[in-house]
Amino acid sequence: MSSTTIIGDMQKDRVATKYVKVNPVNPEAGPLAEGGLILRRGGLVAFPTETVYGLGANALDGQAVAGIFKAKGRPADNPLIVHVASLQTVDELVSNVPFVAKELMKAFWPGPLTLILPVGKAVPAEVTAGLNTVAVRMPRHPVALGLIRAAGVPVAAPSANTSGRPSPTTAQHVLNDLAGHIDMVLDGGPAGVGVESTVLDLTALVPVVLRPGGITPEDLGRVLGTVEVDPQARSPEQGEGRPRSPGMKYTHYAPRAQVILVEGQPEAVTAKIIGLAREYQARGKRVGILSYIDSADFTNVGEVILAGRRSQPETVAAELYAALRRFDETDVDLILAQGIDDRGVGLAVMNRLRKAAGGQIINV
Ligand code: TXA
Ligand code: MG
Repeated sequence: MSSTTIIGDMQKDRVATKYVKVNPVNPEAGPLAEGGLILRRGGLVAFPTETVYGLGANALDGQAVAGIFKAKGRPADNPLIVHVASLQTVDELVSNVPFVAKELMKAFWPGPLTLILPVGKAVPAEVTAGLNTVAVRMPRHPVALGLIRAAGVPVAAPSANTSGRPSPTTAQHVLNDLAGHIDMVLDGGPAGVGVESTVLDLTALVPVVLRPGGITPEDLGRVLGTVEVDPQARSPEQGEGRPRSPGMKYTHYAPRAQVILVEGQPEAVTAKIIGLAREYQARGKRVGILSYIDSADFTNVGEVILAGRRSQPETVAAELYAALRRFDETDVDLILAQGIDDRGVGLAVMNRLRKAAGGQIINV
């Protein structure tokens, strides 16, 4: 008898990634059943949600979940969100569903709100990174819901990007990062909201927003009365000590070029960006500018990419990650990004931009 063990050879590590287009409104049963079977058998399936694309594994199978961390190159101490298609499943995942959680589920599920609750016994430590809490959410996207139902198990899913890259808002983004490392991609067209779900911690005395997203603090306030926003959710670069959401400590959402974020009054921001662009160009640097359709015209100043309208922060959220990824296809050395108002969904946009800038922020 003999046995052979193959260790970590990149070529041999690669798997065939099956790509299937599905109808985003009425997804076909065949691809959902196939994706569900792959998940049940311990494989990895990327799928659209109404926020960004997720990379799913059976949340009750620790080994399958470990595969997510390997494919993404994700630090093991960053826990995952468990996605469900029914409220009964939540009862199997958490040890207690407080009244306020039920109220929030009624108001915002299915939708871009993730709730942190005390973890139940069925959830493996790979999902929670050993914490005594678990993140749960019911996505609104018909493909996500159909896939979870077809799998018949709750689905642990982070964003389907390589760790540290901007989250994917199209199936092509997923393939660019993860082709050869995952079993299947369901392509349901572009994700809607464009930034990840709001993460709300319900295990503290007062509910705390750990990560701003599609459901705004204003929305939550209407159900909760009072809601806190973690200081690091506003200014990730100014955080001190251990973040309450492990994911917040990593530089995220980063394109390859350095991002310099300029915040303040629109006219002053424009003037600063033009000045900086000229300075860097004089030093031989290629400059990218992230701006908006309804902002000042930066023609002839650098490589300009417009991400939605600053007066409608939802449109910026929808375009942001694709814009950051598009800069990677140019040869710019740095990106000067124009800040927007951090009200409503603008808070989620600014959280991601501040993180992408990793501390390189200029207030004018
Ligand atoms: O919109 C979304 O939430 C997307 C789609 C795919 O659903 N998913 C997503 O997952 O953004 P991910 O893994 O990229 O981000 C999950 C965030 C991380 O910041 C993580 O640290 C935090 O949720 N998180 C997960 N479990 C937690 C827990 N028990 N306590 C505190 N934070 C937690
Ligand atoms: Mg992510």
